[in-house]
Amino acid sequence: MSKSIPHGGKLINCFNLNQRVDYTLNSVELDNLELSDLELIANGAYSPLEGFMTRENYDSVVHDMRLANGLPWSIPITLAVANDKASELKVGETINLIQNGIVYGTMVVNEVFTPNKAIEAEKVYKTTEVKHPGVAKLYKRADVYIGGPVTMIKRPEKNKFKQYFLDPIETREVFDKQGWNTVVGFQTRNPVHRAHEYIQKTALETVDGLFLNPLVGETKADDIPSDIRMKSYEVLLENYYPKDRVFLAVFPAAMRYAGPREAIFHAIVRKNFGCTHFIVGRDHAGVGDYYGTYDAQKIFGHFQREELGITPMFFEHSFYCRKCENMASEKTCPHGKQDHVILSGTKVRGMLKNGEQPPKEFSRPEVVQILINGMQQVYIQN
Ligand code: ADX
Repeated sequence: MSKSIPHGGKLINCFNLNQRVDYTLNSVELDNLELSDLELIANGAYSPLEGFMTRENYDSVVHDMRLANGLPWSIPITLAVANDKASELKVGETINLIQNGIVYGTMVVNEVFTPNKAIEAEKVYKTTEVKHPGVAKLYKRADVYIGGPVTMIKRPEKNKFKQYFLDPIETREVFDKQGWNTVVGFQTRNPVHRAHEYIQKTALETVDGLFLNPLVGETKADDIPSDIRMKSYEVLLENYYPKDRVFLAVFPAAMRYAGPREAIFHAIVRKNFGCTHFIVGRDHAGVGDYYGTYDAQKIFGHFQREELGITPMFFEHSFYCRKCENMASEKTCPHGKQDHVILSGTKVRGMLKNGEQPPKEFSRPEVVQILINGMQQVYIQN
């Protein structure tokens, strides 16, 4: 049995897929981030949340990285509406949550409140610069938040890689069936390059299973599209990973690029999926130079191990060393930068778009081939 207990003690389930739509209700339109959050609340990935945050939880999360009841939680999960819509809504009323005319759920409006976005940006993202993609998104959203418990009555269609969408209750079952007592979760928004593979496998040396859990919700425009990434994960697992030790499923949340705060959030959510351990490498969920290389590791020091309930596994910046002739990090390699194969994400994306192969010490040739084919398609389409 997996030793992982859901955050707050029990896995939340807010589905009522037989509930009939009441078209007479007031409705609020969800953007993609909100729709993905709705589903992740409903399926228990965000346990113990049962809805979008009301002011008390929101303020507590923004300022103290805890829910109002003291449980660690680092990212606000909110539903934004425009001022004119907010003024139509009454506290206590049930509304439909819709996107493009489809009703996905309902929410009881417990509170309507206006956040201070500058404070949210500064606290959560450590910057108010709109160059930061998370802050840009925050500022683009409508100005008023509404909070309250949700019920999901219809799940969004999964048009791509359907078999990789699993709810926490299902991943927990998989881990149990595999007989894994300890499972390490790996978050990524990138293809799995050699450095990722190295830290995953190093972690796997000490636990029973690896849960490869790429984020496939909204990402910034220049990140590699999820359908190309999924093919690259498949080919990598097929060729280089033992089948009975690894499980691949997607994490359909949007990327926030909130660095350290998002690392805590990512860990808690993976606990809900059944992981006992979680990998945090260099600049986890970071973007540009907003966060220090190891800030996302240091932030775990704010919490007691028991209150997080998942063990972080920290890794130094890893690379291939030509002199060592293997993967290494500053911790394990005595050689200088001139011997290390290190390429930035921007550089690699540029190479792939031009059909150039990054060196095999950086990325497996099978992976590179999928990425070059995929990125050239994207390039042609644009
Ligand atoms: S993230 O935004 O999802 O964190 P990415 O997919 O690049 O971005 O990283 C996935 C995980 O691998 C994160 O924990 C990150 O810290 C770690 N990581 C990425 N590259 C390296 C590297 N070269 N060395 C060590 N850890 C790394």
